[in-house]
Amino acid sequence: MKILVIGGGGREHALVWKLKQSSSVDRIFCAPGNAGTTEIAENIAVSATDLPQLLRFAKQNDVDLTVVGPDDPLAMGIVDLFTADKLRIFGPTKSAARLESSKIFAKELMRAQKVPTAQARVFSESKEALVYCDELKFPVVIKADGLALGKGVIIAPDVATAKSTIEAMMNEARFGDAGRRIVIEEFLRGTECSIHALVDGKDYRLLESARDHKRAFDGDEGPNTGGMGAFSPANNWDAQLQSQFESEIMRPVLRGLAKERIAYRGLLYPGLMIASDGPRVLEFNCRFGDPETQVLLPRMKSDLLPLLEATIDGKIDNYSIEWDKRVAVTVVLASAGYPSKYETGKAISGLNEVAKLEGVQVFHAGTKIVANQVASAGGRVLAVTALGSTTAAARDRAYAAASHLQFEGCHYRRDIALGAATS
Ligand code: AMP
Ligand code: GLY
Repeated sequence: MKILVIGGGGREHALVWKLKQSSSVDRIFCAPGNAGTTEIAENIAVSATDLPQLLRFAKQNDVDLTVVGPDDPLAMGIVDLFTADKLRIFGPTKSAARLESSKIFAKELMRAQKVPTAQARVFSESKEALVYCDELKFPVVIKADGLALGKGVIIAPDVATAKSTIEAMMNEARFGDAGRRIVIEEFLRGTECSIHALVDGKDYRLLESARDHKRAFDGDEGPNTGGMGAFSPANNWDAQLQSQFESEIMRPVLRGLAKERIAYRGLLYPGLMIASDGPRVLEFNCRFGDPETQVLLPRMKSDLLPLLEATIDGKIDNYSIEWDKRVAVTVVLASAGYPSKYETGKAISGLNEVAKLEGVQVFHAGTKIVANQVASAGGRVLAVTALGSTTAAARDRAYAAASHLQFEGCHYRRDIALGAATS
């Protein structure tokens, strides 16, 4: 089979790495890919959002299956475009992907199905939102309705911040159209957990649990990022929470989608807050998480390809997924300045040494080859994943590997999975 993976980050390197292990796969293309995917697949110089070029490539090269990594092409309707041309593609349609691309759509669906989530109000007029601020207890969370590169969620500690955020989103169009409408919601307390599900239109299979570390610096300080590290399984998840999650969240959400005549096929990853009374939905993602994928796929013993195919074909109920019992920890190495303006083009050393280490896999995120040398090319540069029989062992391995990797300005958190290793 010929596979095309769309995207060029750590998640996509992990997807390519895992699919490469499938006996049915002959060739993998990655668009646009990175210096890591080029070692095991064929990178093609097409951006993940250039839908017409991606379609043309898939047709001209007889691609059997396309797997979409990031959210943008899904929100733009890549799945609708490919299926209209009878091409097989893994991911939800544009309409189904609104669970992620419109926070208002997601909120309204959850409200109709009584899915536990933060209390919220929706605004399309800044004047009303500004007046509402005066009635609130702080902190509150303000969210742009649309996709905003992970930056459209602001936790406002006081009324002044709330008002300036509303101005920036609604009147100054800081996030373009994405912030034209906003959600103001209750600030939830608890710990976060990422749950991934392969949803086949009617049924689903859960992947193992994972936890992400969103803040830039140790001790959960600093600005939000795309994710500075992750581990799996999550230490705040158990069978009881899972059963509550399935009955109060997963099934009602699928019921709500069915009511709207939407068949969701693809990966659905609800980001959860585990509160004292159980899991609540913070957001939906309609794709694999990044960096969660970098800890989930190294633990997945089953072949990923048949699972993706069964998801498309509505047959996921015929499958169970086998997992490595070991813990996986991934540490993200980022560029100087990230998540604000960052520097790129820095030569990376140590990759060959780390490649020899047992139980360690380096997934490239923002990298490219410059003059035969791997160089940084993004905010998140590498994700170093290690497996271990305990969280402490996996952490030690991941950090030992990270210490061999160097580029100018490289920074990473030292406390990924630390809470889980010491609890
Ligand atoms: P989202 O993109 O909606 O997941 O938001 C990004 C991050 O903001 C989440 O991972 C949480 O850390 C935080 N967040 C979002 N909504 C809330 C909320 N209602 N209460 C507390 N934190 C939140
Ligand atoms: N790890 C967060 C995300 O993928 O959205």
